[in-house]
Amino acid sequence: MSNKKYYIKTFGCQMNVYDSNRIAGILQNLGYTEASNAKSADLIIFNTCHIREKAAEKVFSDLGRIYLLKQERAEQGLDTIIGVVGCVVQAEDEQIAKRAPFVDFATGPLTYHRLPEILAKIARKKGQSIIDTEFPAEAKFDFLPENKSQGGCSFLAIQEGCDNFCTYCVVPYTRGVEYSRPVDEVIKEARRLVKSGSCELNLLGQNVNSYHGEDGNGKERNLAYLLRQLAEIDGLERIRYTTSYPADVDDDLISCHHDIKKLMPYLHLPVQSGSDKILKAMNRRHTSGDYLKIIEKLKKANPDLRMSSDFIVGFPGEEDKDFQATLNIVKEVGYIQAFSFKYSRRAGTPAALMPNQVEEKIKKERLNILQDMLFSYQLNFNKECVGKIMPVLFESKGRHKGQLIGRTPYMQNLHAELSNDCLNKIINVQVTEATTNSLSGKAV
Ligand code: 5AD
Ligand code: SF4
Repeated sequence: MSNKKYYIKTFGCQMNVYDSNRIAGILQNLGYTEASNAKSADLIIFNTCHIREKAAEKVFSDLGRIYLLKQERAEQGLDTIIGVVGCVVQAEDEQIAKRAPFVDFATGPLTYHRLPEILAKIARKKGQSIIDTEFPAEAKFDFLPENKSQGGCSFLAIQEGCDNFCTYCVVPYTRGVEYSRPVDEVIKEARRLVKSGSCELNLLGQNVNSYHGEDGNGKERNLAYLLRQLAEIDGLERIRYTTSYPADVDDDLISCHHDIKKLMPYLHLPVQSGSDKILKAMNRRHTSGDYLKIIEKLKKANPDLRMSSDFIVGFPGEEDKDFQATLNIVKEVGYIQAFSFKYSRRAGTPAALMPNQVEEKIKKERLNILQDMLFSYQLNFNKECVGKIMPVLFESKGRHKGQLIGRTPYMQNLHAELSNDCLNKIINVQVTEATTNSLSGKAV
């Protein structure tokens, strides 16, 4: 196996980026090295996302292209194994077998630790595809090789799955029930990541603030406890956590934003809609008032805190006044970044069957209005940063020679002219220019 190459294409969320990293770790343990492109890879893996219809369709169209590549390679006498992992598999295993029969194996997000076994099986009996989606999350974490440091900032999954069942969302079906990793395991992994060069950790979970991992004495601990423990690690300078569910933000967690200086002043806290009628239909356990109250408390704990959110427009039954309520909450909070989507019907979720589905044209119009407003807040905040000095963690090389790209405490992308030895370090930078999507600056 030693000279085989792999190529992983990742779709979707940060949890998927994290999973791809772990998959790369598994493959490297098997002697694979990373290919620079799909063409030169013996094993091509698509790590997929199912959260919106478009994401799933993109997977199928890209798979078509990969099939052509497989044929081209076959003409040169080269064998290519194609695998699909992640949420599309969990949700649409039959569709994959039907629409992409050339896929050699498919495995859900909770079972990819079985890859070595799957690959061995393929080597033994070529030609038959294998679909594998049943396995609990705790087993996955137990069987994975170590999470390798991803540079200056590493993702660390502490929780997986979701029991909230928002009526539009596939996650509870694709990622399964909530599972929290034990405290000691997380701390051990965090120490290792810091030792191998990460000064920032981003704790991941679909519903990260419902974390309830056991400590060494079998006692359940919350996210606030975990954050306080992590903050003690020398060399760890920045901590983030994502994605949080508003109804699970408690006072203990809020006080962390006052007490823990390492906790970055930026929080992604999706509200989805500003209308209480729609929030109820979405089965969210919070009203817009509850949400604003939480933000008020958070800002009291740390006045520098800035917010980001996810929004869905055109949820079934959304009328003009509901949409207006969403625009109002944007004005009220002044998000500095946000993701916004047109509602998309996901098979198997309750909202897909709701009456009063909103016309595509209206969804588009609402999305444009919302995004214009969100972008203007984003640009305003970025412009406010001009002249300020910010600590920036530089993570990658820029497009131009001698340029590095990093992240500010507020997750803004910033580029600056710096030598490569500044990579994976936090450097003080004065912001000189701002656009909607990025900042430029000079080291001071
Ligand atoms: N349609 C549109 N957006 C969705 N999201 C999740 N499911 C859907 C759907 N069916 C969005 C939510 C969530 C983000 C990750 O994706 O805003 O917070
Ligand atoms: Fe999906 Fe709701 Fe769970 Fe988020 S909280 S993963 S939107 S079900």
